Amino acid sequence: MKKILVTGGAGYIGSHTCIELLASGYEVVIVDDFTNSVAEPLQRLQKLAGKSVSFHEVNLLDEAALDAVFVKEGQIDAVIHFAALKAVGESVEKPLMYYKNNISGSLTLFDVMQKHGVKNLVFSSSATVYGDPEETPIKEDAAVHATNPYGHTKAMMEQILMDTSHAFDWGVVLLRYFNPVGAHESGEIGEDPEYPNNLLPFVSQVAAGIREHVTIFGDDYDTVDGTGVRDYIHVVDLARAHVKSIEKLAKHDKGTLIYNIGTGTGYSVQQMVETFRQVSGKEIKTVVGPRRPGDIAECTADATLANNELGWSASYGLQEMIESAWKWQSQNPNGYRDAK
Ligand code: UD1
Repeated sequence: MKKILVTGGAGYIGSHTCIELLASGYEVVIVDDFTNSVAEPLQRLQKLAGKSVSFHEVNLLDEAALDAVFVKEGQIDAVIHFAALKAVGESVEKPLMYYKNNISGSLTLFDVMQKHGVKNLVFSSSATVYGDPEETPIKEDAAVHATNPYGHTKAMMEQILMDTSHAFDWGVVLLRYFNPVGAHESGEIGEDPEYPNNLLPFVSQVAAGIREHVTIFGDDYDTVDGTGVRDYIHVVDLARAHVKSIEKLAKHDKGTLIYNIGTGTGYSVQQMVETFRQVSGKEIKTVVGPRRPGDIAECTADATLANNELGWSASYGLQEMIESAWKWQSQNPNGYRDAK
């Protein structure tokens, strides 16, 4: 494995993964169309890694343009496929847009990979495929029943890839991410949502004075303090899980491997806000609101399989996750929008 093509490499998880790939000695080819990202992280990640990437601005639905990338780049050893839409609420309102982007775009990519004999792929799946799990921590063999169009696209993609790896002898790793948070230690690369849907970017913006308060979506769950519990994972640890997956594919011939990527430890909304207060020294106002439709009480990973088979485990704890998120937020109050 030498040359890795990364779709969505300008995005939050993609950009962190490209840095880790470069640090591990891989050549990186990025395909991104800036649907939900900007070019700035590409400059920054190359500077941080001290190495350059090859970049192509291409939408995955554009088969001819994608084909031209594979022709131009020559031998690609594996693909890491991040590019997708990811807002749950939006997916409920615009299901066709989600199916078209996340499914049709991926199918086009897989067709082009098959044509060029590229048979290794790491796919960004999500703990969202488990829906409301019967028990936590969740193991990979728990039932898959996603509850919204975004989650359905992830579950469908998993099925498509299992069938594809079986038919064409591909090697596939499906990584089911729990809740990615935090930023690169430099504070130069991070999550850049204009309007955050997820908890931690929202808390960051309240701490920074951009928003007035955090609404806690329900405090009557059957959890440690009544607020929702999640398994937050440092984005750099998550990025490293992709490098481990590429190493695994280099040794493993074919078939689909599925791994949960989380720390195994859950924190409540209240615990997250309190830790953020301590780290930032800022007041963070909270208001308890109703439950968000579709939310579950608790979701944590059993990541034993990734520990044993990928040789991966999380190295950062909550403190480091929040310190890095706050460093990124403080250094880039408007995300990448202020970048020259
Ligand atoms: C969400 C998505 C999930 C996706 C994941 C990606 C939903 C229902 N689920 O997971 O499909 O894979 O993001 O990162 O959107 N919370 C508040 N106030 C807020 C925001 C969140 O109290 O302003 C609470 C939520 O109720 C939850 C926890 O914080 O208990 C985490 O929420 P969030 O960051 O949105 O992640 P998930 O809902 O777990």
